[in-house]
Amino acid sequence: MIKVAILGYGTVGSGVYQIIKENSKVVEKKSGEAIDIKYVLDLREFPGDPVEDVLVHDVNVILEDPEVEVVIEVMGGVNPAYDFVKSALEKGKSVCTSNKELVAAHGAELIKIAKSHNRNFLFEAAVGGGIPIIRPLNMHITADVIDEIEGILNGTTNYILSKMEKEGADFESTLKVAQDLGYAERNPEADVEGYDAVRKIAILASLAKEKTVNYEEVYTEGISKITADDFKYAKVMNRRIKLLGKCKNEDDGIMASVSPRLISVEHPLYHISGVTNGVLVRGNMVGDLVFVGSGAGKLPTASAVVSDVVDSVRHLNIATTVRWEDEHLEIADFSKSKKQFFVRATDDKATVEKVFGNVEYIDAGLDNEVGFITPVISEADFEKKAEELSGLITRIRIED
Ligand code: HSE
Repeated sequence: MIKVAILGYGTVGSGVYQIIKENSKVVEKKSGEAIDIKYVLDLREFPGDPVEDVLVHDVNVILEDPEVEVVIEVMGGVNPAYDFVKSALEKGKSVCTSNKELVAAHGAELIKIAKSHNRNFLFEAAVGGGIPIIRPLNMHITADVIDEIEGILNGTTNYILSKMEKEGADFESTLKVAQDLGYAERNPEADVEGYDAVRKIAILASLAKEKTVNYEEVYTEGISKITADDFKYAKVMNRRIKLLGKCKNEDDGIMASVSPRLISVEHPLYHISGVTNGVLVRGNMVGDLVFVGSGAGKLPTASAVVSDVVDSVRHLNIATTVRWEDEHLEIADFSKSKKQFFVRATDDKATVEKVFGNVEYIDAGLDNEVGFITPVISEADFEKKAEELSGLITRIRIED
């Protein structure tokens, strides 16, 4: 019998509790031990909930109890989660977490502390919710150079974009529907401005490169400027607008970004709609691998957390091979990255061609503006040229 403790009885925490109870037989069979939830930490009371029997309000009860072998951190946010997790690891407990803010900010350090105690710091649920992607990167795709990772890594924004496309609706009203349905937070900034996705792509890039990619250095643009009219053009181009997290090996290093992209019908992530997430991993030998599933939600996320608990129990005193060093990985200069841009502007065609040369016009039937695709051009050159237009409405990057 292995004793575990859950830090946080919110959406994911209650899901973890439910899975360990409801799927106790399968979890025992897979891990080789029965799992007993000895404590649940939360500041709140839960009158009438069976969790009351194991509820504690002081983390030290858990940290000081040598019987607790695995701590499950599902509180979210960097503080106080970082202090709790670090202390638990230093006391020789394994930790499993769904907390991408914590992992993006302190992943390498926490892995190192865990290893020094022959314990594990595992975070399958931190990226892609229920989709297995961390373990495949660590344990399975180990014969390849990973050339590229592209992901639809945020369910909220994918829901909003899919709904805007389907209903011709604008961003603000769609966001409100998403909030009313509980898909988007009341404060939606982290999702819609790409701050959630950038942490996730930084984690994936760090695992692919085994060094630390600082998410704050990654170019990040969200979806709040995408409009219903943009989708009219996308339809004519037979493309969809997706918020893509990307990291790619290029000549001058690894290029990373989060931004809305126009992706074609042939793209492996074209059909990933609604709250679903999708991650494309491109290995130099295996080729393209695509991982698809629920990127958020109580039970899918909790399922990934409990899979880490099973892994921790299977490897109780063995540090498993999460390779991620704290050495900083310099990422390539995004302004040098080249691509085509789709542009909408109120300038006339003569001006457009004087600035950008040979463009491909897209007619979506909108009056008083032109839509066009530029030749392949660097980010920096695009910015310079765009300043020569007097009526730039928007621009969206075209994904190959
Ligand atoms: N807010 C996140 C999303 C939750 O919408 O994908 C999962 O990290």
